[in-house]
Amino acid sequence: MPQEKIAISIGGSILVPDNDDMSFIKQLASTLLELVPNYKFLVVCGGGKIARYYITIGRSLGADESSLDELGIEVTRLNARLLITALGEKAYYKPAESLDEARLALNSNPIVVMGGTHPGHTTDAVAAMGAERIKATRLINATSVDGVYTEDPKVNPNATKIEKMTYKELLDKVLYSRMEAGSSFVFDPLGAKLIGRSKIPTAVVHGRDMQQLANAIKGLPFKGTIIS
Ligand code: UTP
Repeated sequence: MPQEKIAISIGGSILVPDNDDMSFIKQLASTLLELVPNYKFLVVCGGGKIARYYITIGRSLGADESSLDELGIEVTRLNARLLITALGEKAYYKPAESLDEARLALNSNPIVVMGGTHPGHTTDAVAAMGAERIKATRLINATSVDGVYTEDPKVNPNATKIEKMTYKELLDKVLYSRMEAGSSFVFDPLGAKLIGRSKIPTAVVHGRDMQQLANAIKGLPFKGTIIS
């Protein structure tokens, strides 16, 4: 039976928040490696607070928005290299820099890791484009909250989790998010549009909860939000 292809967007905020990052990256790598016999993975890493730091300094220096995006992209690729280091020889040796490179590399490697591609969107959108390009069975958005909430739960503690939503409901929710370099929202509006047009079932799950992440990858019930 051919292996299922899964695209995963790993937020920088869970990959390198400066909270036991080395052991988390090791755990994430071993979770993926355990699943490798049955799956192929395209993993897209975010930039997290290190990207936001560079973007803030760049903005103070007077850089334009797309140059700030380029700074963010460099950091996402740096984070991708860390995960590649932990994955070892099962991973393509470098961060893929384009969707075509990722697709080709996935033919001969079980895991391909990448960061951003072009200015103007985030790595969630790259993961959605990547999911389209590799014909992924599903997209997993591994983030710092355990699902999509009615409002940002870090801002409003009374926000409630939405366990199931349609592509259209997600798109309506994210469409009016801010789009400047380094801004953060539950899902990139472009990513939301792409998963809707290609009908790619998408799971939003807390990326540091390995059990839930593994369940979401396998298509089993998990704690989080399913968009379909
Ligand atoms: P992230 O994907 O980490 O963005 O890329 P984010 O959603 O702001 O971060 P998290 O998920 O909350 O941690 C970091 C920055 O890099 C640029 C954007 O400026 C983005 O904000 N970027 C990234 C691009 O311009 N293009 C890409 O393809 C990826």
